[in-house]
Amino acid sequence: MSKNTARKIIVANWKMNPSTFEEANSLVLNAQIISEKNKKTDIVLCLPFVWLTDFSHKNFGKLFFGAQDLFWEESGAFTGEISPLMLQNSGVRYAIIGHSERRALGETDEMIGKKIKRAIDFGITPILCVGEKVRDSSHTYFDEVKNQLVLGLAKLSRSTVTKTIIAYEPVWSISTTPDRKDATPEDFLEMNIFIKKVLADRFKEVGKSVKIIYGGSVNEKNVASFFGVDGSSGVLVGAASLNSEKFSKIVEICNESKA
Ligand code: PGA
Repeated sequence: MSKNTARKIIVANWKMNPSTFEEANSLVLNAQIISEKNKKTDIVLCLPFVWLTDFSHKNFGKLFFGAQDLFWEESGAFTGEISPLMLQNSGVRYAIIGHSERRALGETDEMIGKKIKRAIDFGITPILCVGEKVRDSSHTYFDEVKNQLVLGLAKLSRSTVTKTIIAYEPVWSISTTPDRKDATPEDFLEMNIFIKKVLADRFKEVGKSVKIIYGGSVNEKNVASFFGVDGSSGVLVGAASLNSEKFSKIVEICNESKA
């Protein structure tokens, strides 16, 4: 197994939680404590916009802040949208883009492609979520993921693609998917190799250096196995990141990992 020497990343996706600033503050303070003890990984907390800028302006060392979406225009008549310029001016360093829950609300690969490009234009690292809805024996899920990658990264060049992170999140393994199933580290390994191949076909050698992380019901019991997959650059944690005890354990396990 080859060692991945670049710094790994733990992304927390809070989704539309929590409901109060007090709760958000307590989760951030906990993450700050664990990030100070943790030397090996960067932690990125992706908060709802309404709480985000309370923290993103301040320096928390290796604890960073991200949005859960952004719009591709800089300013103007786009009611309800948040621009990459606003995020840049607020110290936001990352943005999840193309999450399956946003795709389910109508976001298309073309919209995602524009968002990815504009995030990079404004110095924000996009975390592009890809992942198939179901797995069938005919393996069409490879085409589904390839399509999401090709369209999502369509506006990037060899020099900009390395500024993205790919989060492989099989929708069938996400904690809130009805009748969900557990994905295995082998599922992630196989898709990780496939994603690297798609990126290398499109962007040549540099495509292989794009970070790929895993998301989908990551918790303190399974995180070591996903974090340790060959070629894994880390994990994206949803539900478990809203529980300080569980999230601390997850970070601790990643930090102790030899991977
Ligand atoms: P989960 O969420 O860890 O609760 O499955 C992950 C995600 O949807 O980003």
